[in-house]
Amino acid sequence: MSLSFFALALFLYLGLDVPEASFSPASAAASEGVKITYGSVIKLMHERTKFRLHSHEVPYGSGSGQQSVTGFPNVDDSNSYWIVKPLPDSSAKQGDSIPNGTIIRLQHMRTRKWLHSHLHASPITGNMEISCFGGDGESDTGDYWRLEIEGNGKSWRQDQRVRLRHVDTGGYLHSHDKKYSRIAGGQQEVCGVREKRPDNIWLAAEGVYLPVNGSK
Ligand SMILES: *[C@@H]1O[C@H](CO)[C@@H](O)[C@H](O)[C@H]1NC(C)=O
Repeated sequence: MSLSFFALALFLYLGLDVPEASFSPASAAASEGVKITYGSVIKLMHERTKFRLHSHEVPYGSGSGQQSVTGFPNVDDSNSYWIVKPLPDSSAKQGDSIPNGTIIRLQHMRTRKWLHSHLHASPITGNMEISCFGGDGESDTGDYWRLEIEGNGKSWRQDQRVRLRHVDTGGYLHSHDKKYSRIAGGQQEVCGVREKRPDNIWLAAEGVYLPVNGSK
C-alpha cells in the first residue's frame, strides 16, 4: 500500500476533506513551519533517539495492565499515528491552531484509545507509566496533556521542539534507550518523568496536517 493511498484511506476513514489536506513527506524540511491543527494525524518523534511514539493491542504485563505505549524504531508503522484532539468541552474546531500552553488529547488512530498516564510504575525504570486507555465515548482527565513549545512561536508548528506535560501527574512524556527485550523490533520504554529534561523533547514528524481554518 503506497503512502499516498494510505493518506487517502486515512481521510476516508476520518471523514475529512481530501482536497484541502497536505500530506507531509518523511523529511521535515519540505514542510517546515506547517501548523499543527486539531484533527491532524501525526507521528511524534522523540528528538534524542528518533523513535516514534507508538501503541498497539498489547497490554502491559505490569502496572495498570492497560494497552502499552512504546517508542518504535521504524518510521513506517501505522500504529504510530495519533489524532490531535481538543478537550471534550472545548469550543475548538477541527483546523484550529493550538497555542502554547493549551491542554490537548492524543487519540491513537488504530485503536481509538487516548494517550494516558497515571501513578502506576513504568515497566523498566519505575517512572510513571504511559498507557492507552478509553475510547471514542470514554475519556477522562488522565488523557489531558499540556503543550509546551520550546523557543519561539505562539502556536504549534511542525518545526518546533515541544514537551507534553501530563496534567494530573505533572509528568513529561519521556523516552530513552531502555529497550524491551521480549518485544520484537527493539522497542523502547516511554514513561512520564516530573523533571524537565532534554529527553522530554518531541517533534511532530510524518502525518496528515489539516490546514489552518480561515488561512485560504
Ligand atoms: C510555552 O509555555 C511554557 C510553559 O508555560 C514556557 O516555558 C515556554 O517558554 C513557552 N514557549 C513559548 C514559545 O512561549
